[in-house]
Amino acid sequence: MSKPIYVLSGPNLNLLGQREPEIYGRDTLDDVRARCERTADARGLSVVFRQSNHEGELIDWVQEARTEGCALVLNPAGYGHTSVALLDALKTLAIPIVECHLSNPAAREDFRRHTYVSLAATGVVSGFGAASYELAVAAAAGLVGAA
Ligand code: DQA
Repeated sequence: MSKPIYVLSGPNLNLLGQREPEIYGRDTLDDVRARCERTADARGLSVVFRQSNHEGELIDWVQEARTEGCALVLNPAGYGHTSVALLDALKTLAIPIVECHLSNPAAREDFRRHTYVSLAATGVVSGFGAASYELAVAAAAGLVGAA
């Protein structure tokens, strides 16, 4: 049995569907989870899907993915723009890292144009709403040879 793809989401994404739906869409995080599970399942893989509002908890899970996951899909949310600690954790990983955003941060406020996570990411998927997560899981599967 191959290791799962870790799909981690950062702060405020528990409110997906209610939070600024004109930017982030109306799908809930449970909807996103189902889409990720379907995408992985179709490629013979599974996902570990988690969300936290806490930087340290996300870092603990990144460290867990280092040994327990085959790839990491990460929507760091606001921490992508601020967290050197999250970047440092990502730099310890040898597995592929796909950064994922529902919106296209490059087309928004200036402060969203830079993410620390991008410095460690294999690639970035952004701007496709909930489908960004599916595309990111498909990309991660491709990177581990399970496309
Ligand atoms: C986000 C974009 C970030 O700039 C923002 O802070 C989020 C969500 C996205 O998925 O589009 O919380 O990561």
